[in-house]
Amino acid sequence: MLQKPIKMPLLIKNGRIYQNGVLTAKNIFIESGKIRKITDSEVQAKEVIDAKGKIVIPGIIDPHVHIREPGLTHKEDFQSGSRAAAKGGITTFLDMPNTMPPTTNAERLEEKRRLARKSVVNYGFHFGSTLDNLDEIKNAKNIASVKIYMDPTTGDLKIEDLGVIEDIFKTGRMIALHAEGDNIKKIIEIIKKTGKKAYFCHVSSEKELQFTQDHETKNNVLVEVTPQHLFLTSEDAEKLGSLAEMKPRLKARRDQEALWKGIREGTVDTIGTDHAPHLLEEKRKVSFPYGIPGLETMLPLMLNAVNEGRLELKTLVKLCCENPAKIFKIKSKGFIKEGYDADLTIVDMPLVKEVKNEELETKCKWSPFNGWKLKGWPVMTIVNGNIVFDGKEIKNIRAKEVEYGA
Ligand code: NCD
Ligand code: ZN
Repeated sequence: MLQKPIKMPLLIKNGRIYQNGVLTAKNIFIESGKIRKITDSEVQAKEVIDAKGKIVIPGIIDPHVHIREPGLTHKEDFQSGSRAAAKGGITTFLDMPNTMPPTTNAERLEEKRRLARKSVVNYGFHFGSTLDNLDEIKNAKNIASVKIYMDPTTGDLKIEDLGVIEDIFKTGRMIALHAEGDNIKKIIEIIKKTGKKAYFCHVSSEKELQFTQDHETKNNVLVEVTPQHLFLTSEDAEKLGSLAEMKPRLKARRDQEALWKGIREGTVDTIGTDHAPHLLEEKRKVSFPYGIPGLETMLPLMLNAVNEGRLELKTLVKLCCENPAKIFKIKSKGFIKEGYDADLTIVDMPLVKEVKNEELETKCKWSPFNGWKLKGWPVMTIVNGNIVFDGKEIKNIRAKEVEYGA
């Protein structure tokens, strides 16, 4: 049963909160789903969360998620996928269009909107492109981007015609791309020609990262990398078999190092999970589908990297909260600020826990990180001022579609 959201004043006290690059001991007062006050004093509230010893960061925004509804709900649906997000500390995700049918016209977008109402974290939609849906692209309402698939992957949305792609760029909509290898170079040429921006999903190799850094266009180019390409390599694929098969495929250690260098140097803009669940029985087939789940492991992997000194918390918040909000112009999210939405993730940095398949919320119930012992976990997820994940249980409280603006 879905509960109506409770609009109760909530106080988070004794925690250290992340604001403007630093952690400060402040209390956060929440009312009507918004951050009302960030203060040193203790405001009266009906509900109080004691965040002693914990860190409060802006809710994680995952810009790249495949929820699979409609059509492939045996793999995931908006309820199971959003519960996995909540457990992973993710308060907003942007859903990809390669469902069945794909989200390539207004009617299907509205249908998806209706289906997504059961989501327990906030959500937005990427719109799909085909060889002939330019008018639909121009008129699509409240979307994060138009996704162009240039390489074969799950679904049937591949476009190779560069003329069509250029026309899609010329609509002026935000563009997200699945472009691998030399296809990135082709898009860089289109960016030079049109002066438009592009968001490259899951950049996975040293060479691809170099292509995105062409000095003429690098200010118009945004780069996403996935946790799987940061924490696994083709050596792991030898052990994990099809459970480590995804698009783009895992690369060599040297590529992985280039991605980490990109993070340190600021050439990587966001982390997207590319949560792409398939059932184990599907992955075990000879002709298995590509993709792995990731909503529940992204933040623990990144926090573990912070604990190991490989990543600064500041960079994590930039990649996983601030930049996704800025790039896709998501309103009132990505920062802990008075007046902003009360989407918050509370993390326990010293907590050590193992990733366990059987504890996952995703319908596919497996992870290539099964058995990894990680230090640093989300212990509470607050969405629109409601405690959706309290460290143990997930509540089915409805969330909202995001809005976009300047
Ligand atoms: C994705 C899927 O299964 O939907 N698979 C993947 O390997 N990443 C599709 C995609 O993002 O290419
Ligand atoms: Zn994807």
